[in-house]
Order: sequence, then structure tokens, then C-alpha cells
Amino acid sequence: MENFTFLNPTKIIFGRDTEASAGAETARYSKKILLHYGGGSIKASGLYDRVCASLKAAGVEWVELGGVKPNPRLSLVQEGVRLCKQHGLGFILAVGGGSAIDSAKAIAMGAVIDGDVWDFYVGRGAPADALPIGTVLTIPAAGSESSDGSVITNEDGWLKRAVGGPFLYPRFSILNPALCVTLPPFQVACGAADIMAHLMERYFTNVTNVAFTDRLIEATMKTVAAQAPKVLTNPDDYDAWSELMWAGTIAHNNLLNTGRIGDWASHDIEHEVSGIYDVAHGAGLAVVFPAWMKYVLHHDIDRFVQWAVRVWNVDLDVFDKEATAREGIARLEAFFHRIGLGTTLASLGIHDDRIDEMAQKGTNDDSRTLGQFVRLDSRAIADILRLAR
Ligand code: NZQ
Ligand code: ZN
Repeated sequence: MENFTFLNPTKIIFGRDTEASAGAETARYSKKILLHYGGGSIKASGLYDRVCASLKAAGVEWVELGGVKPNPRLSLVQEGVRLCKQHGLGFILAVGGGSAIDSAKAIAMGAVIDGDVWDFYVGRGAPADALPIGTVLTIPAAGSESSDGSVITNEDGWLKRAVGGPFLYPRFSILNPALCVTLPPFQVACGAADIMAHLMERYFTNVTNVAFTDRLIEATMKTVAAQAPKVLTNPDDYDAWSELMWAGTIAHNNLLNTGRIGDWASHDIEHEVSGIYDVAHGAGLAVVFPAWMKYVLHHDIDRFVQWAVRVWNVDLDVFDKEATAREGIARLEAFFHRIGLGTTLASLGIHDDRIDEMAQKGTNDDSRTLGQFVRLDSRAIADILRLAR
């Protein structure tokens, strides 16, 4: 196991009707805030009205900025930064999914500097300060509600890039599983695929003697595999949503990579796919991850065998480890199909004409490799994307 320091400062407020506490929690930080949200689902569901009532009751005034798109855009972030500076706002409340939250984190960084917030996403490193943010989460997926990361797309060149740092942890996140019942099935599936991917990125590590966190990750993967089909079959199943929502937060709050070094190549490759083609992040991961697995399988076949046996209940064939591992990958693909996702680029409507471009962009023209489990150059990335055709 590697040395580690673990601190996740995000306060989680979980359960029915918990959005009623949004105002009081926000008022602890500022009484003049930016209320930030997506394309309108929160208005259709009535959540917007409830959050506004809670803010009012706590004496919090707000400026509003809606319209965050999935794969949130830099131009709206810049608008938010302008609003925060113009009105002297002291806090950002994001209501929605990973996109609204990531956009809020970007605005929070931009509001306290004179320069361009995009610089953080392309090499300036972690910010030294940011406005505090809080969230009301409406979809189990990205884990941004208690992660230290933010992912933004710059329309100028369609580059999708991530930044991380301790100032980006939300101060609080409100998780009411009942808010998930209005989710379209496709978004549910994308969210489940993303959670599974966050677990797999951490699971496939070169660090040895990580038996305890192996088991925690396996349990969380099994939870996602069991609960996602349940909420798709019965969207009113509060208990199943509760399991999935909490699993989604734990999958990405860094507890499960304590002492480990995760891979993250599949995420970086997917960011190139959604950067260019604007596909949903989880849908892209369902395509990239199985192809990545087929490509790196022989790097540590025993780890793949352990995953196949423990998570997907594959019978161990001691004489043919590769067959055991490949059956695990087949069961992962079957899970994605069962929840309604495709596992090929073609299923996303993507053809292979821009594979080399994605591989070049992903490696910043071969100036970096992707992944830790296996380091991938642009040729390897292109090979993986071709395997995904
Ligand atoms: O915009 P609205 O109208 O709210 O609709 C959203 C959006 O269309 C809809 N939705 C969300 N909750 C709903 C709902 N519709 C009905 N009822 C509800 N309760 O779902 C759509 C997708 O929302 P989005 O916020 O984009 O989803 P998600 O949470 O999957 O976030 C994806 C983004 O997070 C990034 C991804 O790259 C992607 O840009 N990620 C962020 C991470 C982080 N900051 O730690 C890590 C992840 O790996 C990921 O990269
Ligand atoms: Zn993800």
C-alpha cells in the first residue's frame, strides 16, 4: 500500500426532503450567492421552487445563472465569473448533476482571480483559493458532489479538460434519492456507467497489498450492478435509488483510492470522445472501458481474473486465466447492454475518421502519456479506439 493522507471535507446531508436545508446550510457561508443550474429539469420537477423557498426562509439573496449544458462549457463559466465579481457574491449553490456542479467549481475558481480560469485546466495546476460552493444533487453519476475535481469543455478547439485541488470540494452536498425519480432512463444508465468506471479506474492499479480497498471497491461495483437495473425497472424504488446514490458518492470521494494509484486512461480517452462529439460522459465510458480492458489485459491477468470472479461471479478456469478474464469483460459489456447502453463507437454514431486526431489531442501531441496501470502513447490510444469500433 502507498502512503496516503485522506481528508474529504464535504458534509453530506442525505435523505428525503433534505433540500429544505439548502438555505440554512448556504447562509452559514454567505447571504448573497449565485444559484447555478442546468437546462430546466429542476424547474419541471418543482425542486427549483423548493430550493428558492428554502433560501428565502434563511434570508439568502441570489443571482441566477441557469443553462449549464451536459459537458459544461467555458463560455457560461465566464458569464458566471462576471456575475460573481459584478455583484460581489460569496457562495455558489449548484442544483443539478455533475455538469452544474463542475461549472460552479470553475466559476468559484475564476471569481477570485484576475486571470483566465481556463489556465487551471491546461497546466496551471491546482488553484490556491476559490469561492465556497454547495450542491443539491439530482443524479447519481459523476461524484462531483464530493470530489475535488471539475471538468470543463472549451468551445474554442473543443478541448475537454479536468483540474483538481482541495479548494474544489463542496462545503456541503444535499442528496435526496427521491429527486432521481424524474431522470430519463438514458441518463440513469450513463450515471451508473460513470460510477462503475470510477470504481474500475481505481481497481486496476499496480500497487500491491491493497486487499482491503479491493474488497471495498468490489462491494461498491456489485452494488451498482444490482441497483441500477432495479431503478430502471421501477423508478419509484426509493431504497434502490438510495443505494445507488450513496454508492455514486463513495465511488469518487477518494476513500476507495486510499493507498492506491488509479489508472484514469479510460476517462482521459473518453474526454476526447465527448470533447469532439459531445456524447454523454457515461455513454462514452461504456464504449472506451471494455476496449481498454481488452488492450491491457495481459499487463496483470491475475487482477482481471480476481475482478471477473469476485464482481461478475465468473467460474475460475485455472488452466485458462485469459478466458476467465475475458468472460468478466463480456459480463461488464452485458451489464452495459442490460441498462441500455452500447459498447461500440458505432453505437454512439461515431465513425473512425477522427481516431488519430483524438489520440493526438489526448496526448497533447505526444507530449504526455495517459494512464498509470499501463502508460499509453497516441498509438496505443488509437489502437484502443479502433478496438471500440
Ligand atoms: O440540465 P438539466 O435540465 O438539469 O438536465 C440534466 C442533463 O440533461 C439531466 N438531469 C439531471 N438530473 C435530473 C435530470 N433530468 C431529470 N431529472 C433529474 N433529477 O441529466 C442530464 C445530464 O446531467 P449532467 O449534469 O451532465 O450529468 P452527470 O452528473 O453525469 O455529469 C456529467 C459531467 O460530469 C463530468 C463529466 O465529464 C460530464 O461533463 N465529470 C465530473 C467529475 C468530477 N467533477 O469529479 C468526474 C467524472 O468522471 C466526470 O468526468
Ligand atoms: Zn467519470
